Amino acid sequence: MTIQNQGARHVAIIMDGNGRWAKKRLLPRVAGHKAGVEAVRTIVRAAGDMGLEALTLYAFSSENWKRPEEEVNDLMGLMKRFIVSDLDEFAANDVKLKVIGDWRALAPDVVALIENALERTSGNKRTTLAVALNYGAQDELVRAATAAAAEGAITAEAIEAHLDTADMPPLDLLIRTSGEVRLSNFLLWQSAYAELYFTDKLWPDFKPADLQAALDQFGRRERRYGGL
Ligand code: FPP
Repeated sequence: MTIQNQGARHVAIIMDGNGRWAKKRLLPRVAGHKAGVEAVRTIVRAAGDMGLEALTLYAFSSENWKRPEEEVNDLMGLMKRFIVSDLDEFAANDVKLKVIGDWRALAPDVVALIENALERTSGNKRTTLAVALNYGAQDELVRAATAAAAEGAITAEAIEAHLDTADMPPLDLLIRTSGEVRLSNFLLWQSAYAELYFTDKLWPDFKPADLQAALDQFGRRERRYGGL
């Protein structure tokens, strides 16, 4: 089933509000993150159905290490389980996994799981799911500029060619949930001409209909890329 998606190819989401979702229910924060993983599953499936070529999700920022050790461990544990247990789901939905950020600096067991999942899903074609892990846009830009300089000149084209997202379609739409209105060091270069969409929904409450609403609004916006 392909639903009209108004021309968007690549959507990115800052999945915010898991903690508040749990707090409202008097549950521990980890319960919010678990509900967040369920929302990820549903939205990845919906993104494929809506004809999106790429979905990039901000799962763990390079600043998230500042959280209490227990929460960092909970998040890493959930991520590991997601990567392992959803391999069949990725195959069934033709999802190719990609990881952006400095993920090779993560614990060796996480790196090994990621490498295995990347290989197992490398032939899938319908949707690319890029999970941002240990990701910070400023770090990405420093890495890209350093690589560009090593090759000769720091031009916009050279930086772009070395971004973690270099092989993905241009970013069309960036969504942030939970009512916060900032980019939090996510895809700063890629957002230059992306449409921004903010919703008060907390991430675990974000449903396919909410993604559709964001895409509908995207379709009604006029993108001018600096022209008239
Ligand atoms: C923000 O909520 C969410 C995160 C920091 C982590 C996002 C992670 C997931 C949704 C689960 C794992 C992801 C994948 C791809 C399997 P918050 O804790 O900052 O919420 P708050 O602002 O309400 O406290």
